[in-house]
Amino acid sequence: MNITFIGGGNMATALIGGMLQQGFAAAGLTVVEPDPAKRDALQQQFGVQTQAAIETGLPACDVILIAVKPQSMKAVAQQLAPHLGKQLIISIAAGIQVNTLATWLGGYTQIVRVMPNTPALVRAGMSGLYAPPDVDTGHRAQAEQIMRAVGQVLWVAQETQIDAITAMSGSGPAYVFYFMEAMMAAGRALGFNDDDARKLTYATFEGAIKLALDSPDDAATLRAKVTSKGGTTEAALHAMEAAGVKQGIDKGIAAANHRGQELGAILGQQ
Ligand SMILES: NC(=O)c1ccc[n+]([C@@H]2O[C@H](COP(=O)([O-])OP(=O)(O)OC[C@H]3O[C@@H](n4cnc5c(N)ncnc54)[C@H](OP(=O)(O)O)[C@@H]3O)[C@@H](O)[C@H]2O)c1
Repeated sequence: MNITFIGGGNMATALIGGMLQQGFAAAGLTVVEPDPAKRDALQQQFGVQTQAAIETGLPACDVILIAVKPQSMKAVAQQLAPHLGKQLIISIAAGIQVNTLATWLGGYTQIVRVMPNTPALVRAGMSGLYAPPDVDTGHRAQAEQIMRAVGQVLWVAQETQIDAITAMSGSGPAYVFYFMEAMMAAGRALGFNDDDARKLTYATFEGAIKLALDSPDDAATLRAKVTSKGGTTEAALHAMEAAGVKQGIDKGIAAANHRGQELGAILGQQ
């Protein structure tokens, strides 16, 4: 698979690193990136080919993965349009709908839209994928193979579900960090210094996730198992219920989903 990345920033770097580890050949990867320092770094770190602009000629490739900021997508798509034949286009830009991108690409429709998340940077990502019905199975398989290099994938049948993916796994790492921040602050209030509060919080998250992944029990059962009647965990969970923590999470995720729909509408009007 010959793949050309448009944009050589954080996400492209994470994807390339993951793909090389999964056995993709560096000789098959090209990055179009205007910043010479980033081009040099990509060449040196990964041994991939780089070029400064699309105008200097797009190499023959099977897949074009657009990894620029959403605000740059229209200009990039318009530059790409004359070069398209039968390549798969993968877009990871937040909020840009397939129909909008297809219009900017001059009516080209072999597009898979992906919503990755930041743990992709450490190859523990969760990516949601959507393809309109006329994208063929070969192209779907290529998109999945690429995104699997940086974590897990989940296909959705409707494009609106990409907003829901954004609300869950796209923004999700921030919810986890928010809970961690609160837990560390509570630890400091109990008298722990910063380092110890951090250690207690990070190890608890790491251990709980490992336990959940390794256990046949669901999260509710695991929670019940550590909540003895009249004990400390029960006291904590009662206080959290009374403070509306669960409703807060529910409202937060609904708000993210709603904002994703709004941003999609705004970005489509560029
Ligand atoms: N980071 C995440 O966790 C995450 C999660 C979900 C989705 N995404 C999506 O992933 C995309 C990329 O995000 P990122 O964090 O990797 O951004 P980034 O680090 O800013 O990378 C974008 C790169 O594209 C370059 N670029 C800009 N215009 C270009 C052009 N016309 N041709 C070629 N390259 C161009 C930029 O160069 P300059 O810096 O010189 O402008 C920059 O190096 C965004 O659309 C974002 O919505 C990211």
